[in-house]
Amino acid sequence: MNQRHDVVVLGAGSAGYAAALRASQLGLDVALVESDKLGGTCLHRGCIPTKAWLHAAEVADLAREGSSMGVATSFSGVDAGALQAWSQGIIDRLHKGLTGLVEGASGVTVVRGHGTLVSDREGLGVRIADEVVRGRNVVVATGSQPRTLGLPIDGKRVLTSDDALRLTELPGTAVVVGGGVIGVEIASAWRSLGVEVTIVEALDRLIPTEEPDLSKGLQRAFRKRGIQTRFGATVAGIDTTEADATIRLADGSALAADVVLVAVGREPRTAGLGLAEAGVTLERGHLRVNDRLMTSVRGVFGVGDVVAGLQLAHRGFAHGMVVAEVIAHQMGRLDRAPTLPRDRDLPRVTYSNPEVASVGLTTAAAERLGTVLKQDYNLAGNGRSLIRGASGFVRVLRLENGPIVGVHMIGQGVSEMIGEAQLAAGWEALPEDVASLLHAHPTQGEALGEACLALAGRPLHSHA
Ligand code: NAI
Repeated sequence: MNQRHDVVVLGAGSAGYAAALRASQLGLDVALVESDKLGGTCLHRGCIPTKAWLHAAEVADLAREGSSMGVATSFSGVDAGALQAWSQGIIDRLHKGLTGLVEGASGVTVVRGHGTLVSDREGLGVRIADEVVRGRNVVVATGSQPRTLGLPIDGKRVLTSDDALRLTELPGTAVVVGGGVIGVEIASAWRSLGVEVTIVEALDRLIPTEEPDLSKGLQRAFRKRGIQTRFGATVAGIDTTEADATIRLADGSALAADVVLVAVGREPRTAGLGLAEAGVTLERGHLRVNDRLMTSVRGVFGVGDVVAGLQLAHRGFAHGMVVAEVIAHQMGRLDRAPTLPRDRDLPRVTYSNPEVASVGLTTAAAERLGTVLKQDYNLAGNGRSLIRGASGFVRVLRLENGPIVGVHMIGQGVSEMIGEAQLAAGWEALPEDVASLLHAHPTQGEALGEACLALAGRPLHSHA
C-alpha cells in the first residue's frame, strides 16, 4: 500500500463508485475506500429498497382494484417479513453485480475500512487505522445521513428512513414528520399496505420545492386515499412508551401513533473525517467546491451529497464522472475539460401513488426569464392512463418563441416519462421539435407529445 495512487476515493456510494469507474476507464490508478458495502445509501437504504416497497404497495392496490375490471382479486394483508426478504434479494443481486463491476475494473483497488483525510508533508492520502493510502488526488464521497433534529430516534417507535426500510412488521398507525420526498414516498407505500398515516409538514404543502399545482394534485390524491395531513405544523418533541409514540407539536396539540417516522431532510456526512483539519472549507457541513468540484484544498474534491444541492443518486453519478474527467484532464490524459450538468437539468421523481416527476424550471422561476407559455394535458384524455387508472396531468413550459424550459407531471406512470422530458428540457428543444416526432399509440408518453403539439399551435386531442 505504499504506492501513490492517482486518486483515492473516500466512499463507494453512487458518486464515489462512479468516480472510480470513470477514472479506471481513463487509465487512472484508483483506491476506493469503503467501510460498509459498495453501493451506499441509494442501493442499501434509499432508492432501491424504497422503490421495492412502493412496487409491493402498487401490487396491493392492484389487488384491491382487480374486481373493478372483472378480475377476482382481493387484498388480504401483507407479510412484511416476506416483503423485506424479497426487497433484500433485489438489493443483493444489484450489490453482487456492482461488486463484480468495481472489483473487475482495471486499476481499481477496493480498500475496506473507515478512512479519514490526511494532508501532510508527504502530500494527500486517506488514513485507515494505522495505514495511509496515498493519492495525488482525494475525492470525498461520503454521502449523507438522515437529519434527526435531536428527536429520540430509537429504531423501534421513532424511526429514520433507514429504520423504516428495515421493518419486518408494519405498524397499525404512523405519523410521518416531513412532507418532502422521503416522507411522501414512505407514507404512500405504508398507506397502500394498510397503515393509517398522518403527515406533519412545517410548510403549507407537500413536496414544497415542486410546482405548487403538483403539490395540490398530490394532496388531493392522498386525501382520497385516506392519508391525513397537518400543514404549518412543527415538532416540539416526541415521547415514547413501550406501546406507542406521541408527537408534541409547536401549537400545543399532540398526535399518538404506533411509530413516528422522522423524514426532515438529510445532512452531509462530513464530521470526523479530518476535513477541516486538512484545511477544507465547510459550509453548514457541506464541502465548498468550485465549478470543477475542487474544495479549498488543491487536489481534494467533493462529489454527491457532501456538496450542497439536490441529493439525488443521478447527481452523484454525474459528479463522480465529472471529477474523474477533471483529474484526468489535469494529468493530461483527457483533451477536453468536462462541465457539470446544470442543476435545473436534473430530473426529479417522487415515486408515490400518484407519481410526481419534473425537470427544468418551475413556472415561477421560468417567468423570471421572460414570457412563459404553459400547456397542461390532462391524463383523462390519454387512453393508456385511463386503462391503468392514472389521473393527473403533464405540464410543458416554453419561453415565448423559445425552447421548453420545464416539464411537470403527476399521475401513475409519469416516472417513466421523465426520460423524454429531461431530453427535451436539457437539449432546449422547441415544442415544434418534439411535436414533429411521433409518440407510439397508446402510451402515456403521448400526453407529453400532445402538450407539445398544442404549444406548437397544432393541438390534436386538446380542447381549445
Ligand atoms: P426534504 O428536504 O425533501 O423534505 C423534508 C421536509 O420536512 C420539508 O418539506 C420540510 O419543510 C419538512 N420539515 C423540516 N423540519 C420539520 C419539522 N420540524 N416539522 C415538520 N416538518 C419539517 O427531505 P427528505 O424527504 O428527508 O429527503 C432527503 C433527500 O433525499 C431529499 O433531498 C431528496 O432529494 C432525497 N431523496 C430523493 C428521492 C427521489 O429522488 N425519489 C427519494 C428519497 C429521498
